[in-house]
Amino acid sequence: MARWPVALVTGASSGIGRAIAVQLAIDGSDLIIVARRRDRLEALAEELRAAHGVKVDVLVADVTVPDQLAAVEDRLRDGEPAVDLLVNNAGVGGQGSFADIPLDRQDRQIRLNVVAPVRLTHAALQRMLPRGHGGVLNVSSIAGLQPMPHLATYAATKAYLSSFTHALHEEVRGKGVSVTNLLPGFTRTEFHGASDLDRSVVPKLFWMTADDVARAGLRAVAQGRAQCVPGLVYRVATGISNVTPWSVSRRVLGVVLR
Ligand SMILES: NC(=O)c1ccc[n+]([C@@H]2O[C@H](COP(=O)([O-])OP(=O)(O)OC[C@H]3O[C@@H](n4cnc5c(N)ncnc54)[C@H](OP(=O)(O)O)[C@@H]3O)[C@@H](O)[C@H]2O)c1
Repeated sequence: MARWPVALVTGASSGIGRAIAVQLAIDGSDLIIVARRRDRLEALAEELRAAHGVKVDVLVADVTVPDQLAAVEDRLRDGEPAVDLLVNNAGVGGQGSFADIPLDRQDRQIRLNVVAPVRLTHAALQRMLPRGHGGVLNVSSIAGLQPMPHLATYAATKAYLSSFTHALHEEVRGKGVSVTNLLPGFTRTEFHGASDLDRSVVPKLFWMTADDVARAGLRAVAQGRAQCVPGLVYRVATGISNVTPWSVSRRVLGVVLR
């Protein structure tokens, strides 16, 4: 029996979300995969059905659009069979001065990185808590550990998601539901292109694969852990960040990210 018989993954058409969906299928989970690009989702669904014999439903949705997000919420709250694991993974960044990045783009980022996971988690818990069983894996970022000049909105959305996830982890303690915060560092995906981020300056040592991040995150939520930081280099960086006052980190990052 799979650890999570039925799992719903947002942002499963590429990168970390795709790797999580693949890993779950290898473990025998049936899947509901969510993103905007239908062709990518259909191809992944075919691949996973053929390779692992699992059921895969494709749910095409732009989760920044309220009625499309509502369709995903409805699936979590009322659909059959019940979802055992929700992975809130879809997300986007955006580099530049806050005042120069069009407000619409930043507003979309907040709806994707914050509003969608909050609404989807609420819908999922309506079903998981009465059953006394379930998991929520929220894909945040080490970017949320401190304020990041020139990535101000992105870092703030991830700070929200991390704080929210840690709080919920305590709220559901002892109720059979685990809520886990996944903090990836630089991971080779389509993210940097989609988010207009310059990755040329990032040393090789810092890069992780989506497969490694996916495996670490799934292990953590299965173990009921509050947080997972994949990669030794990022566990060290997180330790440093935790003891560095924002007055220092914002100045340093303001120079590095200019
Ligand atoms: N890569 C990194 O270095 C890194 C580091 C830290 C944290 N993260 C976080 O990891 C998560 C996954 O990112 P990734 O690196 O795997 O990036 P990615 O390869 O660009 O994947 C992003 C996924 O989100 C989906 N998505 C984007 N906008 C959407 C929307 N409006 N509605 C529904 N789905 C949407 C995309 O699918 P469609 O385009 O088909 O909709 C895609 O499947 C994000 O939350 C990101 O913040 C990434």
